[in-house]
Amino acid sequence: MEHWEATTGSPEETRDLGRLLGEFAVAGLVVLLNGDLGAGKTCFAQGVASGLEVSAASPVTSPSYTLLNIHHGRLPLYHFDLYRLSQVDDLTDLGYDDFAEGDGLTLVEWADRMTGVLVASVDVFIEHLSEHQRKLSFKALDDRGRDLLSQLARTAWLGDKPM
Ligand SMILES: Nc1ncnc2c1ncn2[C@@H]1O[C@H](COP(=O)(O)OP(=O)(O)OP(=O)(O)O)[C@@H](O)[C@H]1O
Ligand SMILES: [Mg+2]
Repeated sequence: MEHWEATTGSPEETRDLGRLLGEFAVAGLVVLLNGDLGAGKTCFAQGVASGLEVSAASPVTSPSYTLLNIHHGRLPLYHFDLYRLSQVDDLTDLGYDDFAEGDGLTLVEWADRMTGVLVASVDVFIEHLSEHQRKLSFKALDDRGRDLLSQLARTAWLGDKPM
């Protein structure tokens, strides 16, 4: 499946959707998260962490001063936030490619700051519809991404609650 979308009506629903993705994730999956300030990228990432069984003792936050936080779960979660990224070199120095091709799930907030450079499996765009409603549009970029979207679609997410 190439494209899939869902609408959520609360932060909890966005986290539930992220959790499903975390449950389905395989090593080497790279998910780009795009959307304005406060769209819900970190909220979604928190759900992904819970789907990967990351301990609550290692909470996913918007990393203000760091470009990368690592959380340990069923797979390692490499959580990048490129909001403050100033140069491509910074990302290279962090070893982005090694993480993305590695043993875990890579999530990248503000990925569009680096458009054209990042190799990824799925692109997620989160749109602010109203105070509590968000539309999440998923686009597959490789076979892993297509498999993931097919799995998400099979959960019969109805937009207002997970099955
Ligand atoms: N359906 C929803 N899904 C996600 N967040 C929602 C929803 N409805 C309201 N919110 C609120 O929107 C905010 C989303 O914040 P979050 O930190 O996840 O955004 P972000 O995209 O990571 O922003 P930033 O670019 O600043 O890191 C939270 O305050 C959350 O409570
Ligand atoms: Mg954030």
